[in-house]
Amino acid sequence: MKSLKLVTRIVIVAAFAGAIYFFGPAASEFLPTQTASVLPFPKITTGKTDRAQPLTTDALKIAIGKMRLLSPKRAAPADVTSLELMALGKRFFFDQNFSSNGQVSCATCHQPEKSFTDGRATAVGLATTGMNTPTLVNSYFGQWFFWDGRADSLEAQALGPVENPKEHGFTRVQVARRIQSNYKKEYDALFGKMFGKLPANLPTNPAVGTPAPTRSLISNEVAAYALATLGSPTFQKKILRTAQSQSTQPVEILRLVSAGPDVPPTSFDQLPESQKSEINRIFANFGRALAEFERSIESTDSPFDLFVDRVSEPANKNKPLADSFVAGFGAAELRGLELFTGRGKCTLCHQGSHFTDQQFHNIGLMPVFEDQVNLGRAQGMLMARDSEFNCRGKYLNQATPSEGCLEIEYLETESAEAVGAFKTPTLRNLRDTGPYGHDGRFAQLNDILRHYNHLKKPPAVGHTEEMLVPLDFTEVELHDLELLLISLSGSVKFFKGG
Ligand code: HEC
Ligand code: HEC
Repeated sequence: MKSLKLVTRIVIVAAFAGAIYFFGPAASEFLPTQTASVLPFPKITTGKTDRAQPLTTDALKIAIGKMRLLSPKRAAPADVTSLELMALGKRFFFDQNFSSNGQVSCATCHQPEKSFTDGRATAVGLATTGMNTPTLVNSYFGQWFFWDGRADSLEAQALGPVENPKEHGFTRVQVARRIQSNYKKEYDALFGKMFGKLPANLPTNPAVGTPAPTRSLISNEVAAYALATLGSPTFQKKILRTAQSQSTQPVEILRLVSAGPDVPPTSFDQLPESQKSEINRIFANFGRALAEFERSIESTDSPFDLFVDRVSEPANKNKPLADSFVAGFGAAELRGLELFTGRGKCTLCHQGSHFTDQQFHNIGLMPVFEDQVNLGRAQGMLMARDSEFNCRGKYLNQATPSEGCLEIEYLETESAEAVGAFKTPTLRNLRDTGPYGHDGRFAQLNDILRHYNHLKKPPAVGHTEEMLVPLDFTEVELHDLELLLISLSGSVKFFKGG
């Protein structure tokens, strides 16, 4: 991780931000190129020469071994309670009564027949969200959730869409009341012993719904860096003008814009602490059930998996890879795999059996909006840190601090790479999950492969990771790579009981 904390860098960036502020929009026109040459961006060498080296069969076999889904694919449900929790979560997942118009459930956007996506570029609940719906297949393995990783567990993630005005448009008080009216028996049976039964006195005033959102503000240094690297000059100028008219620093405008609206304390915030805790506890348990169901959603039988299983059989150890071909994985897919792990260097990020490093990267996507920007991980990590439902909070606290919890302690909040970076998505079941990319800008798989082939600059914000260099693949190579990606798609299984 590159840290922005070096004093020199801060001075340089602050000087540029200052220059824009004093000289007005005209000065900003030279900013991106100027800063690109002064800011010491991370240097990770991926020279064209080593791209030209094809992999040996042995190297390829080792690479394949790392992509094997180990059996059992996931911990089997430990006990009856877990199965009951899963069954309740499944009912919650498909229940449209947890929405303000009675028509939106998790399954509105996460549809089982589309590998738990919706086929849209950007998701639509009560309104258009502007973000692409990720698959939930094999999500049990994840560390961070949402494209910017603003939730550190499936439990915490599940609470987001419910209170999002564009998705379910519901509140945590309404969730608690709905559980009381429709699921009291099940809730008390599962959680009563540990957390107490559902209280009888939940607030009935519809105005008492949800707390004002926490605002997580990026630092001045990150804001200055983001401002200097904004890919849309129009937006850059707009921020400068707003700053001038409000007699404030441009970095301040960007910090506030990225943090979202400033909402005054709500009637929920004014409830007594004990009552707030009681409602938050029910809300968190609602998330527990949903998460338990989501952990049952898996796909493990793609042609690629069947091929890898065959390659890994001792009897096939010294045989050519072609001897292990299966329906849906043949010579073209194998050539694609060679490109994926070799010259394409896709495994730098899409690695392991889930094809993700669980990290965040800026892959250099050009700006599509002239009046807004998504800072990605730079903002998301602060939101994860500040959430009352993270693994440090009292509701979803983990008895043994998991890696995720330690990662919250050590977040690199001054990282330049986090600006405009999004989570490396899994590549499983791409057959069903298009359009692609965090904002669904790529209609077809081929479109994103073309992006990697040319890497047009500049990105919407921040700096394209240096390890990404244009692939310059031929049409045939791109096609082989696409066939490989399709071969990572299998059937979708999920808990059917309950
Ligand atoms: C309106 C459509 C919509 C609804 C309804 C919805 N989601 Fe999502 N879901 C999305 C979108 C879009 C994202 C990505 C949003 C982002 O990153 O900002 C997402 C992200 C997720 C993720 C993170 C996946 C990952 O790999 O990071 C999970 C898990 C998830 N949703 C589960 C749920 C659950 C559980 C519910 C019901 C409580 C739900 N969703 C309701 C559209 C929806
Ligand atoms: C530097 C890390 C990195 C490398 C290298 C990389 N990717 Fe990605 N990939 C990502 C990230 C991050 C995203 C999500 C980007 C976004 O939407 O902002 C992504 C998105 C994708 C998607 C879209 C998936 C979806 O569900 O929307 C596909 C397909 C993909 N990459 C394939 C590849 C292939 C093929 C290669 C090699 C040629 C490759 N990637 C190399 C990090 C990387």
